[in-house]
Formats: sequence, structure tokens, C-alpha cells
Amino acid sequence: RAFTIAIDGPAASGKSSTARAVALELGLGYIDSGSIYRCATLLALRNKISDIDARHADLIGLISHSKFDIRILRNVWLNNEDVSKEIRCADVNRFVAEIARDAGVRAEVLKIQRSVAANAEKKSAAAADGTTPNGVVMDGRDIGSAVFPNAELKVYLDASAMARAIRRWDQMNSARNAQGKRSEEDGAQTEKPAYPTVEEIAREIEERDYADINRAHSPLRIAPDAVVIDNTNLTFEQQVHTISDLARE
Ligand code: C5P
Repeated sequence: RAFTIAIDGPAASGKSSTARAVALELGLGYIDSGSIYRCATLLALRNKISDIDARHADLIGLISHSKFDIRILRNVWLNNEDVSKEIRCADVNRFVAEIARDAGVRAEVLKIQRSVAANAEKKSAAAADGTTPNGVVMDGRDIGSAVFPNAELKVYLDASAMARAIRRWDQMNSARNAQGKRSEEDGAQTEKPAYPTVEEIAREIEERDYADINRAHSPLRIAPDAVVIDNTNLTFEQQVHTISDLARE
């Protein structure tokens, strides 16, 4: 069987960028499982399904008849259309948690996660030069506990709410600077929207953690055999190497 690494953790713990870097370092495939939930949400939005309970069968049918193609550099194709940008829009951000809470949706996504991983494993086996293990790295919230309970390596990444808030703020800041530069070049006089402070973001992250942990069907679980890595005081390179070294053991 191919080598599987599960990386789980709360919002803004850096799991996606870490998982991708580990996959590149070890020559494995990488799958961002949140993007599958985002595609399911896009299907609901495009088909005007706002009440999941009322149109549950329609939504499950749409998901099960769609083609998902998740590429290593995060390009996501849904029914042969590149939806990489659209699945990160504000409407999807707002609606995705509600879609991901539905047990029927989770059961469909689980099938997709396993088949996408099997495909990625085939591809990485074809590309392997014999020195790297064949397999896949998948990040999410319940990969080690539910999707791949037999994964060879399970990592639970965590960081303090403040550390995660600072990273989020940095990301927002660089996006805002890039946007400002573009408007300046265009000579546009755009009104500046209000941006949250680091403290406000930290408070929101703490509230989301609390809701995630206390929700009846929260997907976020620490598998009993997961290695817990708190990256509050680690550099990005340190945490990537820590995980790659664990995988090589
Ligand atoms: O990781 P990302 O923020 O893109 O995930 C989007 C949403 O998908 C999460 O907020 C969560 O509600 C859901 N999700 C999940 N289980 C996973 C991955 C993501 O419920 N394994």
C-alpha cells in the first residue's frame, strides 16, 4: 500500500502550506481536502440550494455525479472547469461550514477523498524514481481520524490563537498591498475598506475554535496515534523538516 500522511489542525494553523511543502520534499501527491468541501459548496450555490435539508437529495446527486480533479499546486477542477479562484470567494467562505456539517455531504466527500488519493498515488508511483516513497499527503480536519484511519503518519498541527491571527493578518496585509499597488497604477480613487486588527482576528479564531470543539458533529479530531506539533515557536522550514523526518523514520 502507498504511503499516506494525514495532516489535521484548526483554521490558520498553516496545515495547507505545510502539507504541500512536505509532499514536494518527499515526492508525494498533495490533496487539500478543504477544496473538495469548497467545490461541494460551489455546486450548491450555483444550483441555488440554500436550504440543504429541503434539497438534500439534489445536492447529494450533484456531488456524486461531479468530476473532481485536485492538482498538486492547488489547482482544482470541477467537471473539467478550473474553479481554483472561485472556491475561495466570499460566498463560498460564508457557506462552506454549513455544507460541511451535513452528514450526507461528508459521506460523499469521503468517497471523493479516497478516490482522489488513489489517483494521486498512481501518479506519484509513476513519477517515483525508486528513492522516494509513493503516496499522498492530505490535509484537513478529520483525515487521521476518519478518512485515513490507517495512515502511516498522522500529524495534528496547532498554534496559539495569537500566532495564527498574526499569520492571517500578514496574508491579508500582503493581499491588501498588492491590491493598493494595482489601484495606484490604474489611478483609481477607491475607498479603503476597514480591516480587522490582529486582536480582532485572534478573538474570531478563538470563537471559531470554541465552536469547532464544542459542536456536536465537529469534524476536528485529534487521532489517538497522531503526533501533535505546536508550531507557535517553529519556523515554517523547521515544521516541514520535523514532519518529513518523521515520515522517513
Ligand atoms: O481548509 P479550508 O478552510 O479550505 O476548509 C474549508 C471548510 O471545509 C472548513 O471550514 C470546514 O468546514 C470544512 N472541512 C471539513 N473537513 C475537512 C476539511 C475541511 O469539514 N477535512
